[in-house]
Amino acid sequence: MNKIGNDAKTLLGQPLDLPCGVSLKNRIVKSAMSDALGDGAGNPTEAQMRLYERWAEGGAALSLIGEVQTSPHYPEKPGNLVLTPNADLAALTALATRGSANGSHIWPQLGHAGALAHAPISDPKGPSALDVEGLRCDGMSLEDIQELPQLYAQAAGLAKKVGFGGVQIHAGHGFLFSQFLSPLFNHRTDAYGGTVERRFRIVEEVIEAVRRAVGLAYPIGIRINATDKLEGGLTAVDALRVVQLLDKTSVDLIDISGGTYFPGATSSSEGGSSSGPYFIDFARQAKKTTSIPIMLTGGFETRDQASKVLAEGSADTISLARAMVLNASLAKTWLSDAGGDPDFPKFDVPPRGGVTAWYSMRLTALGEDREEQFALTPSEALEAYDARDAQRCEIWRNRFS
Ligand SMILES: Cc1cc2nc3c(=O)[nH]c(=O)nc-3n(C[C@H](O)[C@H](O)[C@H](O)COP(=O)(O)O)c2cc1C
Repeated sequence: MNKIGNDAKTLLGQPLDLPCGVSLKNRIVKSAMSDALGDGAGNPTEAQMRLYERWAEGGAALSLIGEVQTSPHYPEKPGNLVLTPNADLAALTALATRGSANGSHIWPQLGHAGALAHAPISDPKGPSALDVEGLRCDGMSLEDIQELPQLYAQAAGLAKKVGFGGVQIHAGHGFLFSQFLSPLFNHRTDAYGGTVERRFRIVEEVIEAVRRAVGLAYPIGIRINATDKLEGGLTAVDALRVVQLLDKTSVDLIDISGGTYFPGATSSSEGGSSSGPYFIDFARQAKKTTSIPIMLTGGFETRDQASKVLAEGSADTISLARAMVLNASLAKTWLSDAGGDPDFPKFDVPPRGGVTAWYSMRLTALGEDREEQFALTPSEALEAYDARDAQRCEIWRNRFS
């Protein structure tokens, strides 16, 4: 192996100590992906358990479970898990156990889709009422907002109880806390709107409540946007102020991402990656702003890109979504002498949402150990994905309405 390969392996293989005292065994994290493998009633399926077991066996230090709902009323999709007291705690325990194989961590990404809640099974509510093309939602009352810390604390307490090694609070990609942080969604004139400090207030209250629920020695991560990539949305200047404000909280890991799933906007999961990590400049600034470990997500295709970020000190760990769908054992591959980068598919003019749907349906194939046979096009994947969600909406309504 040449020196560069050796350095890359060494850098990526180093453990990461979090402020709470917990250590992650290396610097390769599987980013949160809504795997759409819940059973439609908010509980894990066998395929989902197998999926996380594969990432754990594949050497990832940590896998984040995308969009685990703190309440059944504002889900992102009907394939989400729901972490409330009447969930199937035995199935969640099995998921936590299998996803922790090999010294790996598995954390739920605690979410609430707010204005972007899946309309067929929700009456979406965001920080402020909105009625724009493709998006209509009510505004939250003060009581709605004041319930959030307890909702997240309850979910985090359950996460700890069933054996997940930590939690990540989702404040990125245009979902509820990202909406609070964004002047485009948040027009409130009370204590939760206005300056960036006021827009951040609910996030701070949630972190404090979650910390009280899980104790000092349990990891709490947060995902934030470096930018919403939307005219009038969260700017990089305000996002950096958010990092400064987070520095004063008890979070253990700040995950830098960006983009939103607002209709017509740019999302990270549809982007091309040829120019390398998307939010590297912001991560460098964030590193200078806080002593809390920084995780950088988005746009990584090669081991050299990943190790360079660590070597430069631009982030403390990196996280990968699509690369981990192409090779569930990518962490092991990158920690081996030989290395080897995933082969990213190139799609000619995929339909909107087709790339994310393609990766999503491939996740199902991974969970069923049949990725070798997976041959859908983005259009076919989108159709299969939507058809499955439509069936699950029925189950969701029966379970939760
Ligand atoms: C199928 C799929 C589902 C995703 N679901 C989520 C999610 O639930 N939560 C989240 O924060 N990001 C989600 N993302 C975004 C990824 O975490 C990541 O930010 C994005 O794909 C860019 O990283 P990459 O270039 O390594 O793929 C998803 C991405 C994909 C491909």
